[in-house]
Amino acid sequence: MPGAEDKRVFFTNSGTETVEGAIKLARYATKRDKMVAFYGCFHGRSMGALSLTASKSTQRKGFGALLSGIEHIPYPYAYRCAHGHTAETCGAEILEQLEGQIFKRLFDPEDVAGIIIEPIQGEGGYVPAPKFFLQELQRICRQHGIMFIVDEVQSGMGRTGKWWACEQAGVEPDILCSAKGIASGMPLGAIIARESVMRWKPGAHGTTFGGNPVCIAAALATMDLIESEYKENASRMGEYIFGRLADWTKKFKIVGDVRGRGLMVGIEIVRDQRTKEKAADLRNLIVDLAFHKGLLVLGAGENTVRLSPPLLIDQEQADFAVRTLEDCFREAEKKI
Ligand SMILES: Cc1ncc(COP(=O)(O)O)c(C=O)c1O
Repeated sequence: MPGAEDKRVFFTNSGTETVEGAIKLARYATKRDKMVAFYGCFHGRSMGALSLTASKSTQRKGFGALLSGIEHIPYPYAYRCAHGHTAETCGAEILEQLEGQIFKRLFDPEDVAGIIIEPIQGEGGYVPAPKFFLQELQRICRQHGIMFIVDEVQSGMGRTGKWWACEQAGVEPDILCSAKGIASGMPLGAIIARESVMRWKPGAHGTTFGGNPVCIAAALATMDLIESEYKENASRMGEYIFGRLADWTKKFKIVGDVRGRGLMVGIEIVRDQRTKEKAADLRNLIVDLAFHKGLLVLGAGENTVRLSPPLLIDQEQADFAVRTLEDCFREAEKKI
């Protein structure tokens, strides 16, 4: 994790549990209770984590009142930027909203324990936040003593070509949430925090299976592989795949946007490139067609195809994926 200060780690059993613990840690460390999160972000489904999640209403429907004291603000989504900004500049108005509206009308910043963000939105559609946005968010957090929390459950562990996606922006979070790829499929998560932040007293937080020897052994083996080969491979193969997709907004009229970093590749499907009308049905069709042709891809957001291959993918496999997707996109395009 970036930053000169030593870190402490609390091991959990999932991403959700990691975020849940991060909420508690931010509250414990700051003695404050308010939090700010972003629309479109997914942080898990336990009552605390779900209170931060603002991805799909089905995930909240039927579960009643959640944690109070949480406000959501828009995520900087450049392709659909309300102010016409680019992928580098989208989000200035959101920061103004945070400082000018949330901090003035709802929460005094001195009551805010943490601001949590996915540096690249995962479930929300593989949307990267601009570098300046993460840097400014960190500045605002530091200014008010707010914990800057990044959720790297999906974007971390070498997937973007760095250990953590937030490193691309040069930021140093106070608390970082990790899970998913951390132990190659074994159930493990980690809350990683600056030493001066993770100072809870023995018994304040705990779990039976967190940090069990089998999962830790799997994580150590995984980390060796990421460090020695896979981080570099994710960067190289990511560049290769993005290179092959570079002209897809020209090649396919249903492709609105191709975005992401490393091996986090999002392709947004639209009915019309001009109006950007979301084509969820075509996206779902593409996911199905790909499945029947032997390629597993997932949807993300309402209308984005996500490619999230294993970090050891080679060029032959990447070529198969791109070729197969080309066939699927051609077939889907006939439907409009
Ligand atoms: C960014 C992010 N945070 C948290 C979670 C929750 O992780 P888990 O499913 O391991 O509880 C996910 C899962 O998709 C995620 O993508």
